[in-house]
Amino acid sequence: MIEKVQPAGPLVRVEGLSKSFGSHEVLKGIDLEVMPGEVATIIGASGSGKSTLLRCMNLLEVPDAGHVWFHGQDLASSRVNVNRLREKIGMCFQGFNLFNNRDVLDNCTLAPVTLKKMGREQAEELALSRLGEVGMEEFAHARPATLSGGQKQRVAIARALCMQPDLMLFDEPTSALDPEIVGEVLAVMRQLAQGGMTMVVVTHEMSFARNVSDRVVFMDQGVIAEQGSPEKIFGSPEQPRTREFLSRYLERPSA
Ligand SMILES: Nc1ncnc2c1ncn2[C@@H]1O[C@H](COP(=O)(O)OP(=O)(O)O)[C@@H](O)[C@H]1O
Ligand SMILES: [Mg+2]
Repeated sequence: MIEKVQPAGPLVRVEGLSKSFGSHEVLKGIDLEVMPGEVATIIGASGSGKSTLLRCMNLLEVPDAGHVWFHGQDLASSRVNVNRLREKIGMCFQGFNLFNNRDVLDNCTLAPVTLKKMGREQAEELALSRLGEVGMEEFAHARPATLSGGQKQRVAIARALCMQPDLMLFDEPTSALDPEIVGEVLAVMRQLAQGGMTMVVVTHEMSFARNVSDRVVFMDQGVIAEQGSPEKIFGSPEQPRTREFLSRYLERPSA
């Protein structure tokens, strides 16, 4: 059997992706490409399928149909070592998902030591350097419970970076944070973007979508209704539903 291999090009390519939960078709044939170094933001109303799409991109959800190519390999192919590939995809969630019974440094070294069999000393060196990049080095021996939400999210980002991922997925990383703390997390994400990381970011932070991303993807009821440059999506959206979503969103005082 000949295995389909993608030519060099996008780091991620989603093709014809569908996913239902029971009779509810949540993703209806999604096509999406993310180039190396690109920052794509996904916007859209609650329930439009953004998280499910992100979760399908690293097989936290198994798609019903379609493909997710990563580095030219189809994640759905039984020949692919999904765990190996997934190590190259970092993910940050709204809820941080830190291990509360371990200190910050241990949170960061756990995966490199257990999954990558990295020596502890090297893992700690790497972790301290990543924690430095997010401004959390001095909290290396703190417990997550003693940190603010913004600090926890920055640790979660550093932890993901310790696996040296090629792709970072963010699912509403600032939605659980107090408004005055959102900025410190967005600043870290912006810095990561400027450093060339390939990122897919589900967000309601329209200023981030507009100013940091290369491409904005608007999802509506399980389809990509429209995508394009921030200038196009925010400046002259073609679809009435994009316009409607944005006008509702941008009207909100604290959005
Ligand atoms: N594990 C699940 N089981 C059943 N329904 C789900 C599950 N995950 C998501 N859904 C449903 O799929 C729809 C899209 O969800 P989601 O991808 O989380 O949307 P978004 O992130 O855009 O808010 C919602 O109606 C949600 O209730
Ligand atoms: Mg969601």
